[in-house]
Amino acid sequence: MTKICCIGAGYVGGPTMAMIAHKCPNIDVHVVDINQSRIDAWNSDVLPIYEPGLQEIVNAARGHNLRFSTQVDQGIHDADIIFISVNTPTKTFGVGAGRAANLEFIEKCARRIAESSKGHKIVVEKSTLPVRTAEAVKRILAESTNGATFDVLSNPEFLAEGTAIEDLLEPDRVLIGGESPAAIQTLVDVYANWVDRKRILTTNLWSSELSKLTANAFLAQRVSSINAISALCEATEANVDEVAAAIGTDSRIGPKFLKASVGFGGSCFQKDILNLVYLCEHFGLQEIADYWEQVIKMNDHQKARFTRNMVKTMFNTVSSKRLAIWGFAFKKDTNDTRESAAIYVCRDLLRENAVLNIYDPKVSDEQIRHDLREAMSNDSGELNSVDRRLIEENVHVVSSKQAAASGAHAIAVLTEWDEFRESDFATIYKSMQKPAFLFDGRNVLDHQALKAMGFEVHAIGKKI
Ligand code: NAD
Ligand code: UGA
Repeated sequence: MTKICCIGAGYVGGPTMAMIAHKCPNIDVHVVDINQSRIDAWNSDVLPIYEPGLQEIVNAARGHNLRFSTQVDQGIHDADIIFISVNTPTKTFGVGAGRAANLEFIEKCARRIAESSKGHKIVVEKSTLPVRTAEAVKRILAESTNGATFDVLSNPEFLAEGTAIEDLLEPDRVLIGGESPAAIQTLVDVYANWVDRKRILTTNLWSSELSKLTANAFLAQRVSSINAISALCEATEANVDEVAAAIGTDSRIGPKFLKASVGFGGSCFQKDILNLVYLCEHFGLQEIADYWEQVIKMNDHQKARFTRNMVKTMFNTVSSKRLAIWGFAFKKDTNDTRESAAIYVCRDLLRENAVLNIYDPKVSDEQIRHDLREAMSNDSGELNSVDRRLIEENVHVVSSKQAAASGAHAIAVLTEWDEFRESDFATIYKSMQKPAFLFDGRNVLDHQALKAMGFEVHAIGKKI
């Protein structure tokens, strides 16, 4: 029986390995992590991440050929194939701070694999990494004192949160980069258990590593491009949703990823583009670095523009005004808040002295306060007393959208949760201060119907 070990039980390691175990009953899958509470959650009925369809797949495989534990060395020792799926955040210190990827966790994994391995192993980079990281991984593995030998493959993950299970079941492609044809074939055979062989692409190591950063950069660029046009729409009374629909019918452009919004979030777009920018600078390609950095600048501008529009619309002051924040996750159907636009909108509104009633169906009070504390801290991680008081006194995390809106001057929709579209807006309108403002940061509500009810509606890139 083939044995797989995956180091890192996060948003990628957990769902990806659950899918492999589900689709390959003849493969034994062991997911290991140094975070005991995360592993405990994977072994419980309340998984550490919310992802539609995940619980069912985990329930079906766990206890059979899927296991979660903190036994990292044992997992490595037993496995034929080892996936590295640990986090690769942006560096916050030293050379490349704010841009380069922090590869500390990858290096620690490589060293641990070198120490705990015997015989031959295939090591798979599943984390998103700067191009040529495999070179460093190979060098560290080559220092193994146990006589172990290794092949290193790159197999980046393209799943999106909220649709991870669908994406894993029917991926547009699986990408495998490597040098050894035998090692590549071993991994191809794993995926071929359920993925059409034509969708399994094989490349050299460096193309695979770079394709992942490039895919995220292109996707984020589309969002920043349509968001840039949304500002021009607001100035000219064009409607950004109509423009997106019109350009999306061009088969060369395509209709996806053209939804104007309050700004993209998530753990990867910003980090991966910054990483790309850093790499370009490292190779002396300053113009290319500047080109991609603009995607991030545009996104920051969009988030700030949204908050400024709210303040300006509400008579240039939101001080002491109660505002309902609908949604805190970076997109619907996930409990992930990393880099969510909501964090920055809330931070800026708090600094205008607003009182926030925040509601998200999947994000906890603790997580929201943690994110705001982090966003309001200085570079040394310190929170000044004014910001601390704002978070303690002006943030109310509530358990329903109605409770958030009750008595509020405005609703700001920051995540496109389906339940927001299905609201009893007539009752909500009655419970609010007047004029009742509604800022749709996702363009998901029926704006004309809301206007007819009495709301003053503001959307992205269109006049209501
Ligand atoms: P995550 O933070 O959710 O999970 C990473 C896990 O690795 C954590 O639980 C952490 O405790 C564990 N870990 C760190 N160092 C470890 C070590 N030395 N030994 C054992 N465990 C260790 O991260 P994620 O969102 O799953 O992302 C993982 C990688 O996948 C990143 O490189 C990311 O860019 C990439 N990626 C993420 C997504 C996504 O949707 N989140 C999609 C595609 C690719
Ligand atoms: C993204 C990519 O889509 C995945 O292919 C990739 O694997 C992943 O990053 C990663 O490397 O982590 P994810 O961030 O989970 O996935 O979610 P997306 O659906 O890409 O959305 C990212 C952000 O862009 C969200 O805040 C979303 O609301 C926003 N977005 C997306 C828009 O504002 N408009 C759009 O048209 C599309």
